[in-house]
Amino acid sequence: MKLWNKKMAGVSTVLAMSLFLAACSGNNDDAADTPDAGSDGSDGDNPSEEQVEIVYASGVDVTGATDILIEAFEKENPNIKITRREMPADTGASHDQYVTMFSSQSAEIDVFDADVIWPAEFAQAQYALELDRFIEADGINMDDYFPGTVASGNFNGRQYAMPKYTDAGLLFYRSDIVETPPATWDELFEMAGELQGEAGTEFGYLMQANQYEGMVTNAVEFIAAYGGQIVNENNEVVVNSPETVAGITKMVEFVNSDFVPSNILSFQETETNNAWIGGQSVFARNWPYMQSTSNDEEVSEIAGNVGFSVLPSGDATSAATLGGWMSMINRYTEYPEEAWEFVSFMSGPEGQKISAVEGGRAPTIEALYDDEEVKAAATLFANEEFVATLQNAVPRPVSPIYPEISDIMQVELSRALTGEITPEEAAANMQEQIEAAMAE
Ligand code: GLC
Repeated sequence: MKLWNKKMAGVSTVLAMSLFLAACSGNNDDAADTPDAGSDGSDGDNPSEEQVEIVYASGVDVTGATDILIEAFEKENPNIKITRREMPADTGASHDQYVTMFSSQSAEIDVFDADVIWPAEFAQAQYALELDRFIEADGINMDDYFPGTVASGNFNGRQYAMPKYTDAGLLFYRSDIVETPPATWDELFEMAGELQGEAGTEFGYLMQANQYEGMVTNAVEFIAAYGGQIVNENNEVVVNSPETVAGITKMVEFVNSDFVPSNILSFQETETNNAWIGGQSVFARNWPYMQSTSNDEEVSEIAGNVGFSVLPSGDATSAATLGGWMSMINRYTEYPEEAWEFVSFMSGPEGQKISAVEGGRAPTIEALYDDEEVKAAATLFANEEFVATLQNAVPRPVSPIYPEISDIMQVELSRALTGEITPEEAAANMQEQIEAAMAE
């Protein structure tokens, strides 16, 4: 495994942002492409034109990038007002609220962010609008996007979701404490124990161990690092293997170590981020957005002292779970055209650049990794190894019944983490129950 050891760029987000806004304000060209653009060549702010309100639902955003994105969109599309509805930070809780809304054919929201694990289910349940006709009309080339992210939004050959940003788990470390990040999970275990307490830290390692989707993503990383899988290429459940047991065993060791917070079983991403930017830990596992909060001097006590690395290797490899978010349209929206305008903006180069620069979120459009402002604001994206990690990230089982599979994993893995059952029992139980769920 290769490692990198780079400190974050000195260029502040504020500088990058002002450059970006300056670039936008001189450029109204894009507005001419929007359907609201008058045939008289006006850029759409014709006062007689109907003002449309689009309700946009998305999860808690600790980086502030979402509001900046909305502002930029509204400036270019004066006839469309975006009203934001904030959904829970926990993806599973958001999911359940969407299912309640959409299954009653509610039109209360128009556009929503979808976790990469949802489109298959939402497409099959007919909650979402098919996007192919819009994509074609706008001449969007889906080959500009990372193939895996396009695939997450495709169901039965049709595109239901546009990729907004992609995620892969990575290891954050304190560059003022750690010289070379660990290459293996065993090395990390040792270093976290030894270095805990340095430079005012309380903990050696932070992760997501609460019983929820994020814990499943941590588990998939451990399992894959030791050579295990949940479901294989042929859609067979293969979770009951010695490799999976080895991965779960390692995860149990971390959760029960004395260098993680004693309430690690209630840690999600938000708790991780808060403790991390408060300077409480030597290492942490989280998604790329934490590069942005880490170096934001307004909120972070460790700005300038943060390095990142690929996650450590187990017996087989180093593995990161594939995450990320897509943009979808409610099938029952009254305003499909305007909803699409917003979706195409968010998932297009301009919107993704704002997410990357302001939010540290990894673009799904390959060309943005060559963009100087993106690279300056988020050094992770200037790093080829990280980009390779994103492209090789391990997907969770792709299935319209993924929520059920995840629930099974959440319950059985939590029981292993608390010591109620052994890793062997957890693997065997998951095998039996996931097989049964998939056979139905
Ligand atoms: C991140 C990922 C998402 C994943 C979630 C788990 O938001 O992008 O795919 O399901 O974390 O908490």
